Amino acid sequence: MSAIEPPLGLLAELTHRCPLRCPYCSNPLELARAAAELDTATWARVFGEAAALGVLQVHLSGGEPTARRDLPELVRHAAGAGLYTNLITAGVLLDASKLAALAEAGLDHVQLSVQDAEAGNADRIGGYAGGHARKLAVARLVRDAGLPLTLNAVVHRQNLDRLPELIDLALELGAGRIEVAHVQYYGWALANRAALLPGRAQLEAATATVEAARERLKGRLVIDYVVPDYYAKRPKACMGGWGRVVLAVSPEGRILPCHAAESLPGMEFPNVRDTSLRAAWERADAFTRFRGTAWMPEPCRSCDRRENDWGGCRCQAFALTGDAAATDPACSLSPHHALLDLAVAEAAGGAETFTYREIGRAPRRSALPP
Ligand code: SF4
Ligand code: FES
Repeated sequence: MSAIEPPLGLLAELTHRCPLRCPYCSNPLELARAAAELDTATWARVFGEAAALGVLQVHLSGGEPTARRDLPELVRHAAGAGLYTNLITAGVLLDASKLAALAEAGLDHVQLSVQDAEAGNADRIGGYAGGHARKLAVARLVRDAGLPLTLNAVVHRQNLDRLPELIDLALELGAGRIEVAHVQYYGWALANRAALLPGRAQLEAATATVEAARERLKGRLVIDYVVPDYYAKRPKACMGGWGRVVLAVSPEGRILPCHAAESLPGMEFPNVRDTSLRAAWERADAFTRFRGTAWMPEPCRSCDRRENDWGGCRCQAFALTGDAAATDPACSLSPHHALLDLAVAEAAGGAETFTYREIGRAPRRSALPP
């Protein structure tokens, strides 16, 4: 057996708590409660194990990682272990003194999410009144603290037409990069797919906007953009390939090959409370099951792209076909590809209302948050 390459990144999901309620949240439908979260000392040990395994970057995420009071301490431990620290935040809980404490603890980078360029719609999408204005203020504080900033814009039918304004906003806030991330449809986003999926013409306009802006802003702003699966001919290499580049640890300590993997049935995930990251990465069934190409069915098995996209996304394959080992239906060679066309047709007449994410409550529909 050839040696297993170490992961480059660790996604540390510090908590599922979050003041926002985005209808496309990638957290599982069953959100972890605060009492079940790993404590500071355990996270510190995990960061040390990650560095020893070969991880270079830790992405401090959630939920909303700034909901953890011990965040500066966690950053200090991660930085002390030699990891590059990236904070993935909605921003609304931050202020100048908290940012100063994080910078002082060794934070390297901030990735701030925005829900739209238009405040009213941004607050409606995030389910948090006043959130957009707060984010703009926080973005400026991030720059004042001397930290590099990436703007993360999750795009979908209800904000995609304002992509030019989102790019302008990134420039105005001094971001060096904007990630234009199309919603991935599993978990909460699958429940809201009919309200979120863009139309083809809308998507084509957005893609043209990105191409023109990349040309115009060369050297000033990096624009990351991937065409969404529902309109692609071939899937993306989700997670860079299962068990190849990154691993995630959930708030309760489960070690996952993908942040959404808990949605897959029949899989057991090791926990940092009783398994080392190295043992999980190298030997756990959860990691080896879809690693490489040996597990692949046809048409992937004999496809010359199998080591480019690794068969696409396991979570999407399960969400759409009920079989996590199926070829991702985003691939036009998949026997299930027509499911995506059906979803696009369904979304064309879809409602604009969302099922907002909630901890401990059944999903409900609402046009506007209370
Ligand atoms: Fe990728 Fe499989 Fe489609 Fe080939 S058949 S392009 S490996 S998803
Ligand atoms: Fe889990 Fe793609 S989101 S493998």
